[in-house]
Amino acid sequence: MKKILITGGAGFIGYHLANELLKNPANHLTLVDNLQRGRIDEDFKALLKNKRVQFIKADLTDQKFYKKLDKNFDQVYHLAAVNGTKWFYKMPQEVLRINTLSLIYILEWIKSLKKKTKLCFTSSNEAYAGALASFNKLPIPTPEKVPLVISDTYNPRWTYGATKLVGELFVIFYAKVYNFPAIIVRPHNFYGPRAGYDHVLPEWSQKIIARQDPFTICSPKETRTFCYITDAVKAMRMLMDSSITDNQPIETVHIGASDEITMEKLAEKMFEAAGWKPKKIISQPSPAGSVKRRLADITKIKKLIGWRPETKLADGLKKTFEWYTVHSKKYGKA
Ligand SMILES: NC(=O)c1ccc[n+]([C@@H]2O[C@H](COP(=O)([O-])OP(=O)(O)OC[C@H]3O[C@@H](n4cnc5c(N)ncnc54)[C@H](O)[C@@H]3O)[C@@H](O)[C@H]2O)c1
Repeated sequence: MKKILITGGAGFIGYHLANELLKNPANHLTLVDNLQRGRIDEDFKALLKNKRVQFIKADLTDQKFYKKLDKNFDQVYHLAAVNGTKWFYKMPQEVLRINTLSLIYILEWIKSLKKKTKLCFTSSNEAYAGALASFNKLPIPTPEKVPLVISDTYNPRWTYGATKLVGELFVIFYAKVYNFPAIIVRPHNFYGPRAGYDHVLPEWSQKIIARQDPFTICSPKETRTFCYITDAVKAMRMLMDSSITDNQPIETVHIGASDEITMEKLAEKMFEAAGWKPKKIISQPSPAGSVKRRLADITKIKKLIGWRPETKLADGLKKTFEWYTVHSKKYGKA
């Protein structure tokens, strides 16, 4: 039996990761979330029907919580964080406090355990995005070993990136000094069902369902990559299960797709997946500071564990749109 803790377990990645981990009958999961963003929806309720899943509603910035928490975990995926651009502007001080404090408490708790518990920390490409904003220079595709930069401490947008930057340092040196295995992953644009309603593909899905015409697309010429969530959580699981990542020094690994697509081409593919196309498309210029290309170098993960994304974009978009169609109708979100 393997005991696994997922913090932020009711969120987008946490939910899909739990489903991935349950494929192994030896795995028993504890999911912790304060439901700041995660939801107990029908999908999550179905997940909780599995006898190998336990859910605890708790705030990870409450130090008392760790006294009650079981001490016998083999692995911890620390996903909990305040995530989503609107929060960076609405409550930057809380982004800083919650993301940093919850990580420090998790690390202090792991440090106190008798067992060598392996940790996966989800950082972000926002930890290095400031290098481009400040110096207009980053290799593309971008490898793991680039400088992490906060380009403007007075701009609330960088509070989240700052927590990931300092978070990486906390994980590296706690793992080194207290000698427990750990891995840092930097997710790059994961997408799929149950991803909330704030990101580009959920927003487009809502607009398509509402038959919005003319249809507005921001930054049509900018390119991005999109990594389907089931591929992404498989990568996380494989990294954590691989003995290659048990050794010091710990690894920092990019997870993402490598086929770049412009936003206007992405919209075309989304219309195909949805079986509907607006008559008129209005292109809006990129917001100030928007990045022309964002592309992770995934050579390292391929070398370490032989992972590569498998889901074709057209298939992933179709599944995503189908989910939003069903759930928009059900919850009246469209
Ligand atoms: N989705 C992506 O493409 C992406 C990209 C870069 C980084 N990440 C990182 O991956 C992790 C998971 O991302 P996600 O997309 O699933 O986000 P999410 O917002 O869906 O999930 C995070 C979860 O953490 C919970 N949470 C927040 N504060 C908490 C607290 N104090 N105590 C307990 N739970 C708390 C939220 O309720 C939420 O369910 C985050 O750390 C995020 O920064 C994700």
